[in-house]
Amino acid sequence: MHADQLITGIAQLVTAQGPHARRGTAMSELHLLPNAAIAISNGRIAWVGPEHDWHDTAKATVDLQGAAVLPGLIDPHTHAVWAGNRLADFEARARGATYEEMLAAGGGIRSTVRSTAAAPQQELIALATPRIAALVRSGATTIEIKSGYGFSVAAELAMLEAIAALTTQTSARILATLLIHIPPTDPTERRTYIEQVCTTLIPIAAQRHLASAVDVFIEREAWHCDEAETIFACAQHHGLAIKLHSDQFHSIGGVELGIRMRALSVDHLEAAGPTQINALAASNTIATVLPGVSLHLGIPAANGRSLIDAGAAVAVATDLNPGSSPLFSTAAALALAVRSNGLTPQEALTAGTINAACALGLHDRGRLEPGCLADLLVLHSNDWRDLLYTLGANPVREVWIGGRKVQPGGTKVTT
Ligand code: NIG
Ligand code: FE
Repeated sequence: MHADQLITGIAQLVTAQGPHARRGTAMSELHLLPNAAIAISNGRIAWVGPEHDWHDTAKATVDLQGAAVLPGLIDPHTHAVWAGNRLADFEARARGATYEEMLAAGGGIRSTVRSTAAAPQQELIALATPRIAALVRSGATTIEIKSGYGFSVAAELAMLEAIAALTTQTSARILATLLIHIPPTDPTERRTYIEQVCTTLIPIAAQRHLASAVDVFIEREAWHCDEAETIFACAQHHGLAIKLHSDQFHSIGGVELGIRMRALSVDHLEAAGPTQINALAASNTIATVLPGVSLHLGIPAANGRSLIDAGAAVAVATDLNPGSSPLFSTAAALALAVRSNGLTPQEALTAGTINAACALGLHDRGRLEPGCLADLLVLHSNDWRDLLYTLGANPVREVWIGGRKVQPGGTKVTT
């Protein structure tokens, strides 16, 4: 083989193996290779093995001089495009108001909807660009971004178009999801909006390839299961995958609906109990937990430990958004999942790589194996566990996407 590039000096290479989501005890089974090398050709991994087993040639060699290398992180749930801010909400909550009260009173998400709908597309792009750069610096190489701060077909399409523009203007690989977030307050308008979503928004988004999935926020103050089912049936009819925001504050049937309709993932799960946990464990739907939300809102964290013990496949995301999770680091989301959701470091890495890729329906990334995209992280440390251990500094030294170094990461800290 004559590779484009050979990466040597890898003190530890750590990866999950195989293209499928890992569930239960298999979430701990990482492959750890000391003194490794990776060969890259055409932006993909051509070979991985012990450095002394490489006997072929490469056009260029990069010596990492003893660093840990991991698969690029996948952030499978963000709302990185928004305008305005929620600093007043933050302060009000610190004084005792709750997120749900503010939403019910017409604030919260609704205030971000107003600001975002009023912003020109160029402004949405300019606001999102540094947020995506921050996620990439923290190790994210693939990032899902949802629409959902539009209150009309036109505003949702404008958000999806802004996300499409970001895919060409940033180094990250971006996947767009159409989020049907919160309903109009008037019950008649609520029905009309679902009709518009099904007759216009979803068909246009699908036809123009503006989204690969449709997500619905199921909650007492948001959409209810029967409404979500109508939207999901339409999404599937148009060839789109489905995802859910569910069981954040109340368990009102979203998990069960998502499993029945074969959703890629059900996300949040802070209020999920044993029934929902066991149902997820018996399904192929990924359970995505969002530690930034429970930290920022002061609500109980999703029970990641019980999900894994029951046999579920768990993923972790930042849920980067202005209201419930201003968390601009994918690595920090994984580090918090160890502290808040009861994951081990091994499980957290699996949750942020292969399982997060599967939560987006992607099977060519989230692991360092021949044929996969050459998306990887180089840590400052020679021990991969520093990715999960470090809080408040960036443990990521380099981020590579498609075999090219795209962003310098954080600063070296001694642990
Ligand atoms: O994932 N819970 C609903 N939606 C988002 C929050 C959006 C916002 O507060 O602006 C979430 O938590
Ligand atoms: Fe979200």
